[in-house]
Amino acid sequence: MKVLVACEYSGEVRRAFAALGHDAWSCDLLPSEDGSRNHYQGDVFDIIDDGWDIMIAHPPCTHLAVSGARWFKDKQVEQAEALEFVQRLLDADIPKIALENPVSIISSRIRKPEQIIQPWQFGHGETKKTCLWLKNLPLLVPTDIVEGREQRVWKMGPSENRWKERSRTFTGIAQAMAQQWG
Ligand SMILES: C[S@@+](CC[C@H](N)C(=O)[O-])C[C@H]1O[C@@H](n2cnc3c(N)ncnc32)[C@H](O)[C@@H]1O
Repeated sequence: MKVLVACEYSGEVRRAFAALGHDAWSCDLLPSEDGSRNHYQGDVFDIIDDGWDIMIAHPPCTHLAVSGARWFKDKQVEQAEALEFVQRLLDADIPKIALENPVSIISSRIRKPEQIIQPWQFGHGETKKTCLWLKNLPLLVPTDIVEGREQRVWKMGPSENRWKERSRTFTGIAQAMAQQWG
């Protein structure tokens, strides 16, 4: 399958699909962290019409996440732009689409997610509610329910790369996506 992983700098989901033999590409404004050649550095809408079979999209949540609700009144323009970005991704002419975001105003302003998953359902002892908006894809089945319920990523101290660590897709979730949707 020809797989587009939109808004991914880490390569987590791309590598999971590639490991199963798919022609998987990531795309981000940033370079890919792993230096892969299967990465387009630029705007996802430059390549969105290139005949993909499936797209997994991780759009920025900075202006959408409910955890930032106290700033909402000061960023209505940014919010409108972020919602339009999400809507354009959901409207892409690609047969199968999964769009991932934390609990966010996408639910009230566009539509409710098909599914909410947690890292602890996929082998990581952490909580981080992750919403999935799905087109022509089944709900993701938990692969490895573990005990831990830490909030490691949210507790991380301030650092230059904090946002990257907070937004990186969990490997277990990436592998489940590839195994079940690939
Ligand atoms: C929340 S992060 C997702 C990170 C992802 N989960 C990963 O593991 O790499 C959102 C990403 O969207 C990227 N982005 C923002 N606008 C974009 C655009 N127009 N085209 C492609 N990527 C974009 C940002 O650079 C950022 O890396």
